[in-house]
Amino acid sequence: MKRKIIVGNWKMNPTSIDEAKKLTSTISKVSTKLKNTQVVLCPPYVYLPKVVSIKNSNISFGAQNAHGEERGSFTGEVSPTMLKEFGIKYIILGHSERRAIGETDEIIAKKVNLALELGIHPILCVGEKEHDTQGVYLDTLKTQIKNSLDKVPKKLINELIIAYEPVWAIGAKEPMTTGVINEMVIFIKKVISDIYGQENGKSTPILYGGSVSFRNAQDIMENGGVNGLLVGRESINPQGFVELLKVVDSVK
Ligand code: PGA
Repeated sequence: MKRKIIVGNWKMNPTSIDEAKKLTSTISKVSTKLKNTQVVLCPPYVYLPKVVSIKNSNISFGAQNAHGEERGSFTGEVSPTMLKEFGIKYIILGHSERRAIGETDEIIAKKVNLALELGIHPILCVGEKEHDTQGVYLDTLKTQIKNSLDKVPKKLINELIIAYEPVWAIGAKEPMTTGVINEMVIFIKKVISDIYGQENGKSTPILYGGSVSFRNAQDIMENGGVNGLLVGRESINPQGFVELLKVVDSVK
């Protein structure tokens, strides 16, 4: 069975290193018992060097962003090369909260390409702002995927993970219904197949994100056709996230 991937996007939380370490230790302890699940924790940059040693074979660390250049005059930015140096294996790229502050598909594609060149797995976030009745969102999504993957070579596409996150379901009360998630996953696989061939369309892992909790994780994993989940709020709630990991790991 292919391993399931659970990404915890802590966003700008928690506000102390002690809390960050405690949260990581709790999750690390539970994750040693997981059989079919890979956990990727993505704390804020400043905590990464402090928590990266609290690891085991089921847990890896990721950043929430990185720059599209390795070095240079980019005040306030962090290069993926710097992250790689201390063992960061994943980078979330193109999250809607970053797109909202001006990241374009072009900028994201540059970041995706550099991360891949460096041997880091990009977790590319895509998703429509609105699920309109005319189906315009399908074109929006297709364009977003194609443009965010611009110049990504076929031989590296397998190193990438796609996180489908409908923007309106992020930070909301409920996730998208599982039937619709499943349709969207099929659509995304088709878009990848059209660019990179059917095999790659099938094998690129697709995660769902947007209001995932321990209560709905099982349903999404069983009926959404996804390979894993990108979890925001529930990933900084130790009890909820631990429960979510157990539930997901037991899904056949
Ligand atoms: P949420 O966030 O789980 O709190 O809805 C998901 C995300 O933004 O990645």
